[in-house]
Amino acid sequence: MTLLELEDVTASYGSVQVLDGVSLSVPDGGAVGILGANGAGKTTTLRAISGSVRTTGRIMFDGRNIRSLRPEQVAKLGIAHVPEGRGTLGQLTVRENLRVGAYLRKDRKGVASDVDYLLDLFPQLRNRISSSASALSGGEQQMLAVCRAVMAKPRLLVLDEASLGLAPSTAKTVYQAIQRLRTDAGIAMLIVEQNANLAFTVVDSATVLETGRNVLTGSSAELRGMDEIRRAYLGA
Ligand SMILES: Nc1ncnc2c1ncn2[C@@H]1O[C@H](COP(=O)(O)OP(=O)(O)OP(=O)(O)O)[C@@H](O)[C@H]1O
Ligand SMILES: [Mg+2]
Repeated sequence: MTLLELEDVTASYGSVQVLDGVSLSVPDGGAVGILGANGAGKTTTLRAISGSVRTTGRIMFDGRNIRSLRPEQVAKLGIAHVPEGRGTLGQLTVRENLRVGAYLRKDRKGVASDVDYLLDLFPQLRNRISSSASALSGGEQQMLAVCRAVMAKPRLLVLDEASLGLAPSTAKTVYQAIQRLRTDAGIAMLIVEQNANLAFTVVDSATVLETGRNVLTGSSAELRGMDEIRRAYLGA
């Protein structure tokens, strides 16, 4: 089943149109990547889904058109967005950030067991549970941002550049945990990532954007085999 489908989506900031007919689809439980150079429209595509930019076209989630919903309505339907530059609450502790992520949930036992599950998945955070988020390393903050989003129990996790600014080994750890969230928790994912090698450790397929349009869409195996993808995104 298709969980998320964008069809011919445009998006504008004021009078400047930056998406010019983007289409993509994420199967239930699947993981899809968005690749593209700086300024191609990757972040804007995620903002279009979250309802934080003006759009036209169709954005279907779980069978309903969510295109004109507000960000909090989209979040309530089960789409959690980890924005570029993280989005942890610096003054709050790790534990408080996780609780804030679950603020819409009423199942207190479920919340407690999800905190435990996530702290098993990211043991570094367990060690820092009472530290304020602003005192964490960049990698730990990224892990916390992902965990905070997962605490909402989303059906779709939307990640924007989760590896940005992280040491390669830390980025790898973050992506291994993301992969486990996908397989264990069955959360579908839409992943924007500059480091395509990392993205391909998780996504089954990807689409390449250029100036606000899809120029190529294919399975991870197909895309990895293409010379132009290797040169542009895989450093080969
Ligand atoms: N708030 C904004 N107001 C006006 N223009 C914007 C705004 N945010 C982005 N843009 C423009 O929209 C286009 C697409 O930007 P977007 O941030 O979606 O690209 P991106 O693919 O995420 O790039 P990057 O890899 O650098 O994060 C760019 O030309 C950018 O300058
Ligand atoms: Mg971006």
